[in-house]
Amino acid sequence: MEIALYAPEGGYYTRPDLTFDGGGDFYTAPAVAPLFGWAVAERLLAAWRLQGAPRRYRIVELGPGDGTLAGDILEHLGRRLGPAAGGFSYELADRSSARAEAAYRRAAGRAGAIALGLPPRTGAATPFPGAVIANEVLDAFPCRRFVARGGRWFERYVDVAAGVGTERPVDRPDLPAPEEGAELEVADGAAGLVRSWADRLTDGLLLLLDYGGPAGNGGRATLQSLRGHRAGRDLLEDPGRQDLSAWVDFPRIRAAARRAGFLEVAFRSQAEALTDWGLGDLARPWIAAAPEPVERVRRHLAVKNLLFGFPNFQVLELAAGALARASAVPAPPARAADPGADGPAGGGRPATGMRAR
Ligand SMILES: C[S@@+](CC[C@H](N)C(=O)[O-])C[C@H]1O[C@@H](n2cnc3c(N)ncnc32)[C@H](O)[C@@H]1O
Repeated sequence: MEIALYAPEGGYYTRPDLTFDGGGDFYTAPAVAPLFGWAVAERLLAAWRLQGAPRRYRIVELGPGDGTLAGDILEHLGRRLGPAAGGFSYELADRSSARAEAAYRRAAGRAGAIALGLPPRTGAATPFPGAVIANEVLDAFPCRRFVARGGRWFERYVDVAAGVGTERPVDRPDLPAPEEGAELEVADGAAGLVRSWADRLTDGLLLLLDYGGPAGNGGRATLQSLRGHRAGRDLLEDPGRQDLSAWVDFPRIRAAARRAGFLEVAFRSQAEALTDWGLGDLARPWIAAAPEPVERVRRHLAVKNLLFGFPNFQVLELAAGALARASAVPAPPARAADPGADGPAGGGRPATGMRAR
């Protein structure tokens, strides 16, 4: 799976022609409407305010796809921050440097006063206060497959000599009790990513948006291949030419985050999170500004798609440092001296009651 997705030549995510806008194998939420990025930007602004509105603020986006989300966030931050935007930086970090560079080219014209950059491949190297966001990145980690039989777990894998579907018993105390017939997919790298950010993000928000059941996969295998918006028949067919992904194991990710020292501020469906971040308030003027009736209908449908078209998507909001402390207790009323150009902050915990204005 690692090779099929990330081989420097021929890996799925290293292909230069990959798109996430509906013209390829699947589309992601940023392709639906700029509102998605605007709502995420509102969440970032709320975190920044709770951190005391520092003059310098660094945002890292992991796996930025084609740069659409970055562009939408950058434009919205620029509008809302006014002159304070000059203290912000926004970095695009991808496993594949070609992907990050493509996203950079796409977002560059939309950054305004915010400094857009490309950090080393795996993200910022030094500890910093700020925010890290990842939309549909954890599901792109290679995973191992396990099946429970006779009271123990077996790993199912591909062996060049023995063939497809080879199994071996495993001794992994981190796996749950083996219920007969249950299947499990474990992406160790996804939990590792969360742990690695706990060391670097000394003060701020780690925002993870992805698909997976809130309580796990219910014992059913979820690894699938996608090509042209259809589930493939064979996971091993045409490696590098079809997407491979499995549900994110959120219970495992949440446990890893807690162990790493993050405070879990919220865990809820993507529709709930977007609504809480002010999607409704953002959508109304956007729909009203449609230049003609057909576009108005299209915008209505886009909002519907964002709220109901991503049913298995969850959002995990993790805080560290000053943000964790501010998120753990009701926030004090906003200070009048906040450098933001967007009026007083709403106050309250970031997980609830945040509005666009
Ligand atoms: C499904 S795409 C993301 C789409 C994009 N975020 C969007 O919203 O349209 C997954 C991306 O995550 C990248 N990726 C995988 N592991 C990563 C890691 N450890 N750090 C940064 N990016 C990673 C992949 O190379 C790929 O470009």
